[in-house]
Amino acid sequence: MAEALEDKDLEPMEPLPVGELDTPAVVVDLDVVEKNLHLGADYAARAGAALRPHCKTHKSPYFARRQLTLGATGICVAKVGEAETFAGAGFMDIFIPNTIVGAGKARRLRALVERGVRLAVGVDHIEQARGLSAAMSEIEIMIEVDTGSHRGGVPVATAVGLAKEASAFPGLRVRGVYAYEGYQYSATDRDALAIRTWEGERALVEVGKAVGAALGIDPVISAGSTPALAAGVPCYPGVTELRPGTYIFFDAAQAHAAETLEHCAAHVLATVVSRPAPDRAILDSGSKTLTADVRGTGVCATEGHGLVCDLGGRPYPGLVVTHLSEEHGIVEGPTVDQLQVGQKVFVLPNHICPVVNLFDEVFCARNGQVERVLPVAARGRPQ
Ligand SMILES: Cc1ncc(COP(=O)(O)O)c(C=O)c1O
Repeated sequence: MAEALEDKDLEPMEPLPVGELDTPAVVVDLDVVEKNLHLGADYAARAGAALRPHCKTHKSPYFARRQLTLGATGICVAKVGEAETFAGAGFMDIFIPNTIVGAGKARRLRALVERGVRLAVGVDHIEQARGLSAAMSEIEIMIEVDTGSHRGGVPVATAVGLAKEASAFPGLRVRGVYAYEGYQYSATDRDALAIRTWEGERALVEVGKAVGAALGIDPVISAGSTPALAAGVPCYPGVTELRPGTYIFFDAAQAHAAETLEHCAAHVLATVVSRPAPDRAILDSGSKTLTADVRGTGVCATEGHGLVCDLGGRPYPGLVVTHLSEEHGIVEGPTVDQLQVGQKVFVLPNHICPVVNLFDEVFCARNGQVERVLPVAARGRPQ
């Protein structure tokens, strides 16, 4: 499968210097991606856990295939529509670590199962289980547990009860438990990151074992987020599956956690379109390009709305996108006089995943030369 689909995914082109692309554009360095994919694979291997990368970051069958080639056992996506796109590209083992409600979506899940996709979805409320059971003849579910992120997830104390109740519905089979480790992003420093990650993962492992004992299954215990991987915080023993997503590209937040820019594989190429004042430059990239996402002040701290770099990814000291409107990025900082109208720069975004989702395609480059144009196949599929 891998070879057969590769050519279709990646449209070859005459090598083109990155600086000759029109802007705004997302440029991905394939050599850095490769290094990051190995980093993730090695992290999972050291943990003795299966790697199931979250493809919401790249949304591209090409990169997902590369992840499988390097040992991933399956993939994650966030939405039913994304699962349909990846299934259409030949991916047959998909976990949606998200809760899904509504008869229409359940019917679409059923269609995926009927075409042979090994599918699992998240459940953190009994009504989701009821809806899935009503629409499907069979599907695997993963119980989402809140281990500290306070997004979705059933409280630890009630997870076993939910697992038992859900497994009583016809057609539902509990595969295991999972947690979203968003708390990693707000850790104040690396020590806090390690402590919070281990506390959260230990709670998940304990609840996973309890669910396994209650249902008589060997449960999948699924965790994982990029900050810990970036900072080299090892995984808690007993986690059986890891779902990092951002690790493929990194971004300004992950670079802060890693304390290096060397893993930053994706930048937005932007043009300086004005220098209206000596202390200010304007880029053609605003919130519709960079998004307005900011991270915290701790281990994943970000500055403004992105770091301004040269086309080699080296930051101009202190130069930051300080304000955004929809189509304008306002750049300020001590080295702003190095920017001239017409010049192209790279911006390292704070959060790369929603940036990629804004583009139809990304330009894949090596050594400053664009080699391929890659469609962002699963972008814009929020349903
Ligand atoms: C449920 C779930 N799992 C895994 C991930 C991957 O996290 P990261 O991008 O930090 O690696 C995310 C990210 O949003 C997520 O929502």
